[in-house]
Amino acid sequence: MTQTRKKVSVTDLDAMKGKEKIAVLTSYDYLMSLICDRAGVDVILVGDSAGMVVLGHPSTVPVGMPEMLVFCGAVSRGAKRAMIVGDMPFGSYQPSTSMAIENAVQFIKAGCDAVKLEGGTEVADKVRALVDAGVPVMGHIGLKPQTAALWEGYRLKGKTADSASRLVKDAQALEKAGAFAIVLEMVASEAAEIITKKVSVPTIGIGSGPGCDGQVLVLHDLLGIYEDIKPRFVKRYAELAKPILDAVAGYAQDVKAGRFPEEQNTFHMSPDEMQKMRRKK
Ligand code: KIV
Repeated sequence: MTQTRKKVSVTDLDAMKGKEKIAVLTSYDYLMSLICDRAGVDVILVGDSAGMVVLGHPSTVPVGMPEMLVFCGAVSRGAKRAMIVGDMPFGSYQPSTSMAIENAVQFIKAGCDAVKLEGGTEVADKVRALVDAGVPVMGHIGLKPQTAALWEGYRLKGKTADSASRLVKDAQALEKAGAFAIVLEMVASEAAEIITKKVSVPTIGIGSGPGCDGQVLVLHDLLGIYEDIKPRFVKRYAELAKPILDAVAGYAQDVKAGRFPEEQNTFHMSPDEMQKMRRKK
């Protein structure tokens, strides 16, 4: 497919704040990224959620750089307009600033336009170092899936005034460090709205209400590919689990019953060649 529209940039997203909502979606492969691009998604996040929805891990923690770089390469071959943000996996930026820079550069070399990492005030120095090294950074505060299970669990954030104030400080620290956008995951909508007003960069919500500058969802959730996984904050735009199961089961049954392949799926030798073949016997 020829893609003529220009690539969405940090400046474009900045200009959209308060004027036009930003549509962000995860994607991890070539085909889905072609579709996301064609559908008008502004930003594709190659999320470490790939560890769960593509690789079958119970959390995002086991995902490493090698897998993420393969996903990013595939996405970059599919998406020509959408900005591509590579999600730095657990352990790829926490140990040191130099390691964070080295790994962020790997994402850019793999075809990403920016990286995302989890954390607020505590990662601000690393965000600044990455931005100084020329890598655009998207922040991520509120529920932080890489470490949530190790600490307080998967809970809504910003429910109290104290918690909301800490989130505002985190968002402001990220903004000051040069982050170009901030994901707010599972933040009470009132707090998300306050944060959105307090920072000049766009906020991208997931489970954080309509007051954010943009929204992000995991592609598989939106498509309803996993029948049993239905978080309340997700809106399913399709129910693909059953049609996919039915199609695959139909194929397996047809093969076993000899109904596939049919004549239309079959290739033939020419009658002359058949004759020659018979004479060879
Ligand atoms: O990994 C991911 O998909 C994410 C989004 C849920 C924000 O970080």
